Amino acid sequence: MAKFYVTTPIYYVNDVPHIGHSYTTIAADVLARLHRAQGDDVFFLTGTDEHGAKVAESAAKAGKSPQEFCDDVSGRFRDVWRLLNISNDKFIRTTDPAHVSAVTKMLTELNDRGYIYKGEYTGLYCVGCERYYSRDELVDGKCPLHNKEPEIVSEETYFFKLSEFNDRILAAIESGELSIEPEERKNEITSFLRLEGLTDLAMSRSKVEWGIPLPFDPSHTAYVWVDALFNYVSGVGWPADMAMFNRFWPADVELMAKDILRVHATIWPAMLLALELPLPKRLVIHGFFTVDGHKMSKSLGNAIDPAALAMTYTADGIRYFILREFGFGQDGDFSVSRLNERYNKDLANDLGNLVSRVLAMVEKYQNGVVAAAAADEEIDRSLRDTVLNAYRSRDTALERVAFNDALAAVWQAVSEANRYVDATAPWALDKAGETKRLAVVLYNCVEAVHHISALIDPFLPETAAKTRAMLGIAATGPAVWGQTRDKAKVTKGESLFPRL
Ligand code: MSP
Repeated sequence: MAKFYVTTPIYYVNDVPHIGHSYTTIAADVLARLHRAQGDDVFFLTGTDEHGAKVAESAAKAGKSPQEFCDDVSGRFRDVWRLLNISNDKFIRTTDPAHVSAVTKMLTELNDRGYIYKGEYTGLYCVGCERYYSRDELVDGKCPLHNKEPEIVSEETYFFKLSEFNDRILAAIESGELSIEPEERKNEITSFLRLEGLTDLAMSRSKVEWGIPLPFDPSHTAYVWVDALFNYVSGVGWPADMAMFNRFWPADVELMAKDILRVHATIWPAMLLALELPLPKRLVIHGFFTVDGHKMSKSLGNAIDPAALAMTYTADGIRYFILREFGFGQDGDFSVSRLNERYNKDLANDLGNLVSRVLAMVEKYQNGVVAAAAADEEIDRSLRDTVLNAYRSRDTALERVAFNDALAAVWQAVSEANRYVDATAPWALDKAGETKRLAVVLYNCVEAVHHISALIDPFLPETAAKTRAMLGIAATGPAVWGQTRDKAKVTKGESLFPRL
C-alpha cells in the first residue's frame, strides 16, 4: 500500500475564509479522496496560522486575549471546510501545544547545530505581510500586496544561516528531488537562487510577543513563517510520534498559490536540510483568483464567501466550478455569472438530467429493476469504452494536477452517456415492444451511471453518494464493465441539481 500525504498552507486566522482559500483546500481534498479510493494510506492536513503582531492587534481591537481571539476565529475555517465536505484528517493550529513544543525543539536543534547567530537587522518591513521586503520587490516603493509604504525597522535579531543552503536547494530543485510545478514557477525559483541567491534570514522578533519564544532567548519570538512552515512536520507527529512521522513524511504534495512559493522553496527546504529531514516531494503552485480584476481580501471587502455561495449552488456546485473553470497554474477572475452558467449546463443539464432520466426510464419501463446484459452492439461498446477510458484520462490528468482536464475527461463520459440515451431512444424501443433490446440499453445506461458516480466521487462526494443511494449500492465497483447486478433495484431520487 502506498502512502499519500497532502497539505494546504495553513491560513491566517485573521482573515475570513474565502473562495481563494477554498480553491487550495478543495484541490487538496480531491487528491486525498482520489488516493483513498485507490486504497492508499492517506493523510490530509490543513489548519490555521495564528501567531504574529497582526493577530495580537486584532485580538486587542476585539477586547480579547490573543488565544481567545484565535479560538473564536479559527473555528470559522473549520466550519467552512465542513460545509464544503473537506475530508482533512487533521486540522492543525499553530497554537496547539504539540505544535508549540515541536517548534521549540526544532529551534533548539537549529541552534545546537550552529545554524543560528545573533545580529542586527535593518530593513523595510510591511506590517500587513509581517515580513521584510527588498527594494526591488516593492512596487512604486510600496508593498505589492498592501499598497502601503513599508516602515524602516532596525532590530536585534537572531539570524538563520539560510545562505548556506542556497546551492543544495538549487541542486534539489534541479534534480527533481524537490519538484516545483508548473515549470514556469520552478524556473522563477531556480533563476532567483542562481542570480540573486539567499541571504541569512532574520528569524526572530523581540517586538512581537504573540509568538513562540526562542528556547535559548525567550525575549525573542520566532518569526511567524518559521513557526508556520513547521506545521507540515509537527502535524504528522514530529517529534512526539515518530512512527506516524515516518509513516507519512515526506509530504507527497504541498499545494499553495504563487504568493507563498518563495518562502516554501527557500526557508522551508533550508530548515529541513538543517535538521537532516527529507524534503517534500512536490510543491504544486496555483494561480490567484481576482474578483472583477481585483485581489480578494477582507480589507477590500470583496472576499467571496464560499458558505454563502454553497447555499445556492451546493458544496458540490462550488467544488465543481472552481476546479473546472480555471487551469490550476493560471490566474482567474471569479465570476458568479460563469458559476451560474456552469451549474445550469454541466451539472443540471448534463449530469443531473442524465441520472434522472436513466433512472426514470428504468422505473417506467421495468418497474425499477435492471436485468444483466452484455454490451454487444457497436454503440454499446463505444459507450463502454468511453466511460472506462475516462478513469485513465482522469487519473493521468490528476497526476499532473490538471483538475480542469480531469473534469473534462469525466464530462466526456457524461456526454457520451447522454448521446447514447438519445441515440438508442429507449422510449421508442418500449413503444415498439422491443423489450430485449430495451433491457440491454437500460442496463448499459445504469452501468454508465454507476461508473460516472465513481468518476465524480473525489470532486462531488455528496452527488456521488446520492447517486449510489439511487442505484441501491453502498460502494462502486472497480473500473470494469458489468458492476450492476442482475435484478438490481434502482430508484429515481430527488433531482441532483435543480435548475436555478
Ligand atoms: N499563513 C500563510 C501560509 C503559511 S503556510 C506554512 C498564508 N496564509 S493565507 O491565509 O494568506 O493563505 C495563503 C494561501 O491561500 C495561498 O497560498 C492560496 O493557497 C490561498 N489563497 C488566498 N487567496 C487566494 C486567491 N485570491 N486565489 C487563490 N488562492 C489564494 O499565506
